[in-house]
Amino acid sequence: MKIDVLTLFPEMFSGFLQESMIAIAQREEKLEVNLINIRDFAFDKHRTADDYPYGGGAGMVMKPEPIHEALKSIDDYENTSLIYFTPQGKLLKQKILSDFSKKKHVILLCGHYKEIDQRIRDRFVTEEYSIGDYVLSGGEIPAMVFIDAVSRLQEGVLGDFNSAMTDSHQNGLLGCPHYTRPYEFLDMKVPDVLISGNHKKIDEWRSKKSLEITKKNRPDLLNEK
Ligand code: ADE
Repeated sequence: MKIDVLTLFPEMFSGFLQESMIAIAQREEKLEVNLINIRDFAFDKHRTADDYPYGGGAGMVMKPEPIHEALKSIDDYENTSLIYFTPQGKLLKQKILSDFSKKKHVILLCGHYKEIDQRIRDRFVTEEYSIGDYVLSGGEIPAMVFIDAVSRLQEGVLGDFNSAMTDSHQNGLLGCPHYTRPYEFLDMKVPDVLISGNHKKIDEWRSKKSLEITKKNRPDLLNEK
């Protein structure tokens, strides 16, 4: 999967892209991330990427022309999903990420400051997503959230692909508890069923726990099913 990222702050991605599973995904050629600095497409001598809002008010607005020029530098951008991250967007969920993970190419647009010029949204953005009901200083962290979530859904990225398939949210429920060695830690033992060797019983226990945890922490998910 190829992901182009339009941002004013490409450096924010450097540690993230070099570690753990994202690094493996790129090395295994399951993922290609191109960081495009919008400021490189600002035409004036100060490379201005933002300006005051028409109508007044606090905060700066990202200018449309540098974003447009940056977008035009991407092959086939007219036929590629352009995702803009904003608190005004639809809530980004596992099902949406799972659908995007099957695409060959997407473009992510990270806003910063107050907003981007609305005309970019009206003409070019195909989808708008929020990662939660809080306001961040820009779309870079949401873009990393997106890249992380779709990468681990590429076959061959996680050691065990089934692991991604049994994550929280993958089947609409939260995940179940997990244990590893030692069998006894402080005064707590691993539940008997997990050492029983009876896989049917283990699956039943895991489903029951998933349901209990979902009911307790996210009852809203049960209404969505
Ligand atoms: N930009 C600022 N806050 C955001 C959020 N919560 N989700 C997506 N993009 C954002």
